[in-house]
Amino acid sequence: MAAPLLLSTYLLLLPLGQAALPVVINTWPFKNAAAAAWNTLQSGGSVLDAVEKGCALCEVEQCDGTVGYGGSPDETGETTLDAMIMNGDTMEVGAVANLRRIKNAIGVARAVMERTDQTMLVGESASVFAEDMGFIAEDLTTIKSTNIFSNWLKGNCQPNYRKNVVPDPSKSCGPYKPSVALKQSNRTRHANTNSHDTIGIIALDQDGHVAAGTSTNGLTHKVPGRVGDSPVIGAGAYADRSAGAAAATGDGDIMMCFLPSYLAVELMRAGADPSTACEAAISRIKRHYPQFFGAIICANTTGHYGAACNKAPTLSQFHYMVSTSETNTPVQKSVNCF
Ligand code: GLY
Repeated sequence: MAAPLLLSTYLLLLPLGQAALPVVINTWPFKNAAAAAWNTLQSGGSVLDAVEKGCALCEVEQCDGTVGYGGSPDETGETTLDAMIMNGDTMEVGAVANLRRIKNAIGVARAVMERTDQTMLVGESASVFAEDMGFIAEDLTTIKSTNIFSNWLKGNCQPNYRKNVVPDPSKSCGPYKPSVALKQSNRTRHANTNSHDTIGIIALDQDGHVAAGTSTNGLTHKVPGRVGDSPVIGAGAYADRSAGAAAATGDGDIMMCFLPSYLAVELMRAGADPSTACEAAISRIKRHYPQFFGAIICANTTGHYGAACNKAPTLSQFHYMVSTSETNTPVQKSVNCF
């Protein structure tokens, strides 16, 4: 019995944000997904398996409507999915974007990584690939997504993400044509900040294997074809066994311009602790978009972890899940936004 006692004594001495390896972290309080990822790792699965199983459960459970089928209908009422998975040992990535008719986006992302020499497949072609690989084609529409769409139509297609078009997109539905004048305007953001928006998972095991992944149905009323940050390498997530891993959540159109996950991992490589790296990645975006909606989770190769979020009208605190051997079950953590 001496060994467990010593281990628990050691773990009790660990300061906040430090965990012995293995560690699994995910964005938002998606507890079932966290448990699926952790249990996969504990029962002998790899870090990639853990990331895939956690994201896949969220896709089935439609975590808050922002992951998986039946959420975030686009301007035509269709739900499309974005996902990616990254192997931090080999630096291989599989990603899918604007995936149609297939519920298990993270599974397709993994198939891209493991069954092709490509990195990202998009749109209809990604769906054909998925069907060829044995994924079932299904309608991703639900009563809820149909209602969201029909209420939006009834409300003159407000809000939407069009600009410099006619008819005036702030008053009318499309179809739109380009307006003669291009007016400079601040980006209008309508992200539903009351909902969460992406599951991002990072997993590190005791042998130093590292993986990261994401899954989302994107942004409600998006322009058809719109792809967010989640499947974009270094934006939605990044993993490198020589430095650590990070995953981001939030307003993807803004966040992908700054590659926050890549930035955070590189800062950890340079010696920043995970909380500082996460904060620096958020600060970089905040400089240009002070009110953007977004957060990031980070972990380094020693099992230290942290998170940061931008203080926005509807986000003052960000909640995320951490699983370690200390608790052997996912624990919710919170960070105050700045
Ligand atoms: N962060 C998810 C998205 O913007 O699509």
